[in-house]
Amino acid sequence: MRFAVLADIHGNLEALNATLKVLNSCTIDRFIILGDLVGYGADPNACTEIIRNIKAVAVAGNHDLAAAGKRSLETFTPYAKEALLWTRETLNDDNKKYLSSLPVLSEFQAFTIVHSSLDDPEKWKYVLDESDAETNFNLLKTDILFIGHSHIAGVFGSNYPEKNISGSSFNHEKKIQLLPRTRYIINAGSAGQPRDGNPKACSLIYDSAKQEVQFHRVEYNIPLAGKKIIDAGLPPILANRLTGGY
Ligand SMILES: [Fe+2]
Repeated sequence: MRFAVLADIHGNLEALNATLKVLNSCTIDRFIILGDLVGYGADPNACTEIIRNIKAVAVAGNHDLAAAGKRSLETFTPYAKEALLWTRETLNDDNKKYLSSLPVLSEFQAFTIVHSSLDDPEKWKYVLDESDAETNFNLLKTDILFIGHSHIAGVFGSNYPEKNISGSSFNHEKKIQLLPRTRYIINAGSAGQPRDGNPKACSLIYDSAKQEVQFHRVEYNIPLAGKKIIDAGLPPILANRLTGGY
């Protein structure tokens, strides 16, 4: 099976469409969405509808649940809060219902998906270093965990039985051969708001037969996505940061 994995689309329709165009030119059996479909970007309805239409397997991110009115806006930054209030107003009832219905964690035979961390998923912790990774490996029941949330692509590996953990993040296209006797935490980066200095939309394809992960970076119409953010009256920094990838 070949799985296309996307995280943190954040209502960026231009990034999502460009990414899907590239992914659909490859053979994909299933789309996996790691949460934060909405928030920040100007097209929350269109992005949510695309994900619903492609019948993706998805988990909820903190922005999805806040935008759907399922959690408070208290812990968000002022810019995120402002965008979430706008997103709440803009999302239609069907899309809110869909986002509310998403689980925060899903476990399959070959892998587990969660937006942030297996360590109390609704506390929205980040997995940034070996210590965070160790906590997650201890809770992980499958060989692979896919996560998002940090908007930075990266991979941690833990061999067994030794349990030596090593990891790295990267901001370019990269192919990774998954090794036997090793478990992995794979951060899919962000399709709609990369924060690794590379503004190109990030996604990956996981080929379970070849045990291979290929990260893709796709160019998209950043000026248009930014213009829509400005035109919607959202904070200009949300447009500017797309250009710099921060
Ligand atoms: Fe996010």
